[in-house]
Amino acid sequence: MTDVRTGDPGQWQRKRVFIRTYGCQMNVYDSDRMADVLRPLGYALSDSPEQADLVVLNTCHIREKASEKVYSELGRLRDAKLERRREGSDLTIAVAGCVAQAEGAEIIRRQPAVDIVVGPQAYHRLPELLAQVARKAAERQAGGRRQPGAGVLDTEFPAESKFDHLPAPGGVRAGSAFLSIQEGCDKFCTFCVVPYTRGAEYSRPAASVLQEARALVAAGAVEITLLGQNVNAYHGEAADGATWSLARLIREMAEVDGLLRIRYMTSHPRDMDDELIEAHGTVPQLMPYLHLPVQSGSDRILEAMNRGHGRDHFRCLVDRLREVRPDLALSSDFIVGFPGESDGDFDDTMRLIDEVGLAAAFSFKYSRRPGTPGAALPDQLPEAVKMARLAALQALIGRQQREFNVSKVGATVPVLFAEPGRKPGQVLGKSPWLQSVYVEGGAAMIGKIADVRLVAAHALSLAGEIPPSLEAAA
Ligand code: SAH
Ligand code: SF4
Ligand code: F3S
Repeated sequence: MTDVRTGDPGQWQRKRVFIRTYGCQMNVYDSDRMADVLRPLGYALSDSPEQADLVVLNTCHIREKASEKVYSELGRLRDAKLERRREGSDLTIAVAGCVAQAEGAEIIRRQPAVDIVVGPQAYHRLPELLAQVARKAAERQAGGRRQPGAGVLDTEFPAESKFDHLPAPGGVRAGSAFLSIQEGCDKFCTFCVVPYTRGAEYSRPAASVLQEARALVAAGAVEITLLGQNVNAYHGEAADGATWSLARLIREMAEVDGLLRIRYMTSHPRDMDDELIEAHGTVPQLMPYLHLPVQSGSDRILEAMNRGHGRDHFRCLVDRLREVRPDLALSSDFIVGFPGESDGDFDDTMRLIDEVGLAAAFSFKYSRRPGTPGAALPDQLPEAVKMARLAALQALIGRQQREFNVSKVGATVPVLFAEPGRKPGQVLGKSPWLQSVYVEGGAAMIGKIADVRLVAAHALSLAGEIPPSLEAAA
């Protein structure tokens, strides 16, 4: 049937999927890949759950708050589903991501309206899971039942990699793309659920990474961010049987014509090897920004967290990185209020931040996660102490971020424009140091890199101007 509004012959058959992404960059990447898997089944992306036939919640389990949010969202979706059924249509609800992996069948027990629970290693099996749901719906209709049926579950860690089964990626946004090269984690920090939700460390073969990088550049990417829970632990098998490090992979990616910016995250201080440090000094496409989570500046707490290194190691890494790349912007993650953290330990963290100087940071109150060793430790700290420490740490980081931004005012720097700015007639982009920069300009600049003179600094962004001599180029 032809849609009279659009003339599109497939319009009436087309289904819509709404994917809500929580958590980290790995989930952002995976959400795009789920969209890639669903596209051949006729699913177009929808901007809202109201218009969707299928809603996927791609969940995060890292902190208690993030996990609990999922259940309140599922309650709302159940109501929407019941409403649809009253109207004679339906809504399929899928829970993906780390809560799906960690809680599995418990999700369906707590919220029986859920049709699919699918773990992060099983997204290529989504078509099969949807077919199972459709079969159950047909049976339900034949039986005349209106209540939600039992959901289907797939949280296996398959022997083969999901990357061998996923279709070619379509996720280039405004010249920028994520590329997942490493999954899982074997480090077992005592606070963290990731080793349980994402499984053992795995590196994608180098050839498959390079092939995807070329495809992304051909699809318009000028910037690629290599992703992994421990991306610098990357050790991918190359075609000749050799093992490539992240540094080697970055050097090879720098040879891809048209790829102007390379970034990677998230890295671990234990895996920052000499070769990777050197790459920061020798590969011009590797952006002068490094996200290197340290979590704490206290040796005692780092030990209790099982981070496998002390504060001196981190300081030394930063010194060496800045030797090869003096303008490197450093960002990090911090947890305050880990069990047993004393005032002195917290002061050590504040001093470390003072010593290294940060351009940005993510900081969190320790969240006790069931099943992790940290949850069983004595001396869990009161909420009020965690809140006070977080506020002090965020104030310090805010000051440093502002100082860093101010230090760039007057410079002319390349900016990759990503989206319209907050005010009409503005576009917003990223500097090499991942600062947000806005200029007067139109949508035609999105996805392009232009030289911008930075004219004013705010806490979280910079105002820029395109020098008149360069305006034509932009
Ligand atoms: N692989 C990365 C971090 C992945 S999780 C690394 O090793 O650094 C992202 C961030 O969430 C962590 O860096 C940590 O700061 C925070 N985080 C993880 N578990 C947490 C918990 N139980 N409570 C509070 N923050 C946590
Ligand atoms: Fe979690 Fe630690 Fe692994 Fe990072 S290194 S994902 S914090 S266990
Ligand atoms: Fe969250 Fe899973 Fe990422 S727990 S932080 S979505 S790896």
